[in-house]
Amino acid sequence: MEFQWTRKDLLSLYDLEPREIEFILDTAAEFKKVSQRNVKKVPALRGKTVVNFFVEPSTRTRVSFELAEQRLSADIVNMSAGTSSLKKGETLLDTVKNIEALQVDLVVMRHSAPGAQDFIARHLTCGVVNAGDGAHAHPTQALLDIFTIRERKGSIKGLNVTILGDILHSRVARSNIWGLLKLGANVTVAGPATLTPREFESIGVRVCHDLREAVADADVVNLLRIQHERQTAGFFPSIGEYAKFFGINSDTEKYLKPDCIIMHPGPINRDVELSSEVADGPRSVILEQVTNGLAVRMAVLFLVAGCVKR
Ligand code: CP
Repeated sequence: MEFQWTRKDLLSLYDLEPREIEFILDTAAEFKKVSQRNVKKVPALRGKTVVNFFVEPSTRTRVSFELAEQRLSADIVNMSAGTSSLKKGETLLDTVKNIEALQVDLVVMRHSAPGAQDFIARHLTCGVVNAGDGAHAHPTQALLDIFTIRERKGSIKGLNVTILGDILHSRVARSNIWGLLKLGANVTVAGPATLTPREFESIGVRVCHDLREAVADADVVNLLRIQHERQTAGFFPSIGEYAKFFGINSDTEKYLKPDCIIMHPGPINRDVELSSEVADGPRSVILEQVTNGLAVRMAVLFLVAGCVKR
């Protein structure tokens, strides 16, 4: 029997079965073909309304969702916290309940508080898509990362994927870890001991604090941004020291296998996580990730919108 998508929300990859992740990826592959056509638009969400509610800054995710909604022919409203009544003390729940009262079908939300989207999804009949919640989850980023790996490497099962950098503060790392483990990859997290907690070992992730060892057998190295804004303590002595011991540049690139690809969710700190030669070099699939994000978000919006009961 053909697989049937049944969720009105996409909150985290932790919640999903492997076949659900694969179904999103397969649906995204179909939507990618739409973006390669002369006419890049389909009527899949015609008559549906989507509110993009970003309570935290974003470039890639916000633009990508907005474009995905346009390509699906949805009606769109963009809201930011600074210009909403949250500023006047309205609660988040009251704000989103008011949005829902306008017969909105989907809310795409980014919020700095982990769990904010799970909380509103429990109170709304419209669909909720998590566009990143604090250091908890960023499911569409992980899906686009996994889509890009699958496109480049053929499948995920058995691949060695190293996630390098600020794991402690990273929703991208957490979502990638859940998605990749569910699809059978071997996952290593690496970086300074202060940013790569040993706790990840309990879920089957290898934890490594030596760059050379961490990347030696990697098929994929996904570099994460040093998140200055989330760091409340000095997790390493200096940015220069981080770049020296954990940056990928023309010196350290030689530790990688010849066919190892380099990923980064953006925004990049050039000459910190990676040098420009690597970011813009032949191993880099960073802009492919961005392109694939559009197809993945079209797929997610299409699937969840189909499960909103009105
Ligand atoms: N990768 C990512 O989430 O980037 P933005 O913060 O620009 O959306």
